Amino acid sequence: MNVLEMRDVTREHGAGQSLVHALRGVSLAVRPGEFVAVMGPSGSGKSTLLTLAGGLDAPTSGTVVVEGVDVGGLRRAGLAALRRRSIGYVFQDLNLIPSLTAVENVMLPRELDGVRARRARREALSALADLGLADLAGRFPEDMSGGQQQRVAIARALAGDRRLVLADEPTGALDSRTGEDVMRLLRSRCTEGAACLMVTHESRHAAWADRVVFLRDGEIIDSAGRSVPESLLEGTA
Ligand SMILES: Nc1ncnc2c1ncn2[C@@H]1O[C@H](COP(=O)(O)OP(=O)(O)OP(=O)(O)O)[C@@H](O)[C@H]1O
Ligand SMILES: [Mg+2]
Repeated sequence: MNVLEMRDVTREHGAGQSLVHALRGVSLAVRPGEFVAVMGPSGSGKSTLLTLAGGLDAPTSGTVVVEGVDVGGLRRAGLAALRRRSIGYVFQDLNLIPSLTAVENVMLPRELDGVRARRARREALSALADLGLADLAGRFPEDMSGGQQQRVAIARALAGDRRLVLADEPTGALDSRTGEDVMRLLRSRCTEGAACLMVTHESRHAAWADRVVFLRDGEIIDSAGRSVPESLLEGTA
């Protein structure tokens, strides 16, 4: 069974003169163990694709299925539960909670999902350690660098055993070595059976994926295997 299946998904904003087609008829399936990179120019629909895959926004038409469940058929509480249990999300703008320390930020979604505090803390510390932040667990986001905050956001998405990891440019604020470490971590999470969908502008990060999906003007224009044709990378940086 696919972890994520999107069928003919469309997302429109506005109406009339100001109608924007953020996504036009996108179909995409991601299997357990698969790491898929999403590339495309600014405004091509990458973040829209991720928010729809994560149930944070609803499509104008089409179907999104996560672990066999039609997301559109869920009520609010069911959707929130599916998101917390199955989906780890790294937001383009991080969304860390300023009044919580790093470890508390990472623990929060797990605790909301009913995991006991002690276990949630242990998982959170282990996820932070995986990202090289073991010593900063008690820091507040405002006392951390941009790259450290970004790694806390990644730890929050990876804590526990979420089956679908959605990451919107998770390496934007990281130096190249830390960026590679994050790729290795996402890759190994996929090897353990998760499915990962990651937006990136960097072809060397996309090279870690099994497949690269290229978006332009809300449409998938191509899907490539490990080697990315140069012609498709034009205009994506
Ligand atoms: N709430 C909204 N209202 C109107 N238009 C929107 C809204 N959200 C997104 N869009 C439009 O949808 C299109 C796709 O936006 P999206 O954020 O998915 O692009 P992106 O590929 O993630 O770009 P970037 O690389 O800059 O992050 C853009 O034209 C954007 O202006
Ligand atoms: Mg975006």
